Amino acid sequence: MSKKMVRCITLLSLCHCTIAAQALDLYQAQQAHAAAIYQRMTLDEKIGQLLLPNYMLLADSAAGCPAAVANPAATTAQLSSACGLTQIAQYHIGAVLMGGGPYFDTPTLAHFTKLNALAADQHRLGSPQDPLLLTGNDAVHGNSHLQGAVIFPHNIGLGVTHNAELVRRIAVLVGQDSLASGFNWVYAPTLAVAQDLRWGRSYESFGQQPSLVKNLGRAAVSGLQNIHQGAITGPIATAKHFIGDGATQYGFDEGDDAYTGSQQAFWHIHGQGYEGALQAHVATIMTSYSAIDDAHSGNDTQMHFGGKWNLVNRLKTTGINGSDGRRYRFSGFVVSDWNGATRAAFFYSLLHPTLSLPEILAKSINAGVDMLMLGASEVRNPFNPHSELLFRTTGDVFVALKTAYQQGLISPARLHDAVTRILAVKLALQPQTPQDYTQLQADERALAYQAATQSLVLLKNTHATLPLDRHKIRHIIFIGPSDDLGLQNGGWTVNWQGQKGNAYFSSPEDQISSGALTLEQGLKRALPQAQVYHLEDRPSEALTADNSVVIATVAEVPYAEYMGDIGNSEALDLWYQQGGASQTNTYLGLPQNTFLGLHFDTAAATAIQQWRARGIPIVTVVYSGRPLVLSDGGLTAPLTQSDALIAAFLPGTLGGKALSAALLGDYRFRSVGSANTLSFPWPATMAQVTEHFVNGALFPIGYGLAD
Ligand code: BGC
Ligand code: BGC
Repeated sequence: MSKKMVRCITLLSLCHCTIAAQALDLYQAQQAHAAAIYQRMTLDEKIGQLLLPNYMLLADSAAGCPAAVANPAATTAQLSSACGLTQIAQYHIGAVLMGGGPYFDTPTLAHFTKLNALAADQHRLGSPQDPLLLTGNDAVHGNSHLQGAVIFPHNIGLGVTHNAELVRRIAVLVGQDSLASGFNWVYAPTLAVAQDLRWGRSYESFGQQPSLVKNLGRAAVSGLQNIHQGAITGPIATAKHFIGDGATQYGFDEGDDAYTGSQQAFWHIHGQGYEGALQAHVATIMTSYSAIDDAHSGNDTQMHFGGKWNLVNRLKTTGINGSDGRRYRFSGFVVSDWNGATRAAFFYSLLHPTLSLPEILAKSINAGVDMLMLGASEVRNPFNPHSELLFRTTGDVFVALKTAYQQGLISPARLHDAVTRILAVKLALQPQTPQDYTQLQADERALAYQAATQSLVLLKNTHATLPLDRHKIRHIIFIGPSDDLGLQNGGWTVNWQGQKGNAYFSSPEDQISSGALTLEQGLKRALPQAQVYHLEDRPSEALTADNSVVIATVAEVPYAEYMGDIGNSEALDLWYQQGGASQTNTYLGLPQNTFLGLHFDTAAATAIQQWRARGIPIVTVVYSGRPLVLSDGGLTAPLTQSDALIAAFLPGTLGGKALSAALLGDYRFRSVGSANTLSFPWPATMAQVTEHFVNGALFPIGYGLAD
């Protein structure tokens, strides 16, 4: 090796070290600057930094604001007033969010951009020293609140791809899409290592292997934030929901992990995603609603109150020993979840004297929460119907937080720490908004297609039914919801709970195209010569095994968070009360599903029997947020009654195109790396669906057929 080359290599490695060292201190590097800004701030300005109100909490009426935004004739003054944006100036607010909704009839790019720009104007008036207003959004699988956005597979499908580089590239584009709509903060990725599939957020988890969650979590954060030369050029990311959100007893959302083991063992499972996110310099961490061993700890271990082992503060101060021998310490800021501080106080009040609002907020801030997410006016304490409303407006919380500080419940040092952490993140953020949205969406569609193909798992393929021979197919019989984009995309799609049907996937704005195709539309395009039938068409007797195929679809109805929990008889959780066979969620007044599985309905099952008897192949596609029991119910069991079955999870807008390619052999299962293999075990019976899947699995993690 020449001297010159040696010198070059030495320089390169030196250079690499410097970048790594600098990058490790991305936020700390901004601390002195942040502290200087802090010195010049009034107390009110400092308090305002800690508040993160939802847009619809600011608005007087949840309907008035979107209507004003959609009205081209509304003046800036009318808009600011209808949306309550003047409070941003009044309370010196440094961050706002758009919650899950639905809020807008037409949540378009133009509407979001307009609202965020007006909010930024108010922020400049109220907090001229603050470098940036943070605007947050749940872009959890694409810029997914936006009508006409390209939607990617949910995390469970990305887990199936086992493709970290693909996840990183997707996150870069989702970050840019988010910035294009005026959101510079994304509440993703979820780093739950989900244990019990009854949990309604299972699909937000990449999988059940901590190492997979670590790798894909690192990739997602690094793509979203897209750090260049020490600056975050994408939106800031959020590692959520710290920690053990996927380990609650019975899979109850926001429940108790009932975990009594060691901190180290707990971290080695549920902390792995955070190790990955911290390696990628994640700017924010969102605390979970769940608790660790709450029952034994007097309802005081809710994560918004710091959690068992004072885990939130520990990660921020001394740090935590990682599974890889490294020490992980967090220098960004911690944000609470939706009304997290007050919700945690409801549980606390079951065994403790009721706290006042200033006391509740102080408890959360002292437990390590730097910024409080205020979702909606706090509803009454579900455990005490006679309770007062804790707050109605952002102003109520502002006053209570200031009172807490003035009464000494929050120390000057703690306020300094929280505010400077937030400012340091803002100083590190230099977002590069993309200019060409049409090109961005074209790039997104290409990646969403790749991801969708790699996210499918072939669970059954008897007699090599797949791939179908496109030259032979003359007749396709569709059974079930094969033409429904809502089901194909799941929860957190446009609306919080998602929706059924095909509305929202095209946009009134010309240049916008989600590229959405249903399975039925995709196959029709790919096989224009084929005759298409539905169940009610009673297709002719001339159909034969050689020239026909039945494509059956079964799907979970979309859901998000606790709305997707599956009830069970062991659980006497406080949020639920037992009411005969089906439980009622006392908080929502809604009954729960109790069976984690899908069946063909009777008409479909009968027709399938008839086609099968004639040798016509039955290919079933399953849209679901998680593995489900599919082998229950005799003739209505999708797995036993199909010749081939694809678990498609929630593949996104390009899912229909991807499925049709996979059915016809244009994409071959398992042709890319370890793609098309399960990241969760698959159950045979409901008895197997327990917290840790103790009873084995019908298909283990890693299963997936090639074709
Ligand atoms: C969810 C979070 C989400 C937040 C804002 C919460 O209820 O748990 O995942 O980021 O709302 O929509
Ligand atoms: C969700 C929000 C959603 C809200 C609707 C919350 O729990 O996290 O994103 O908008 O409920 O009421």
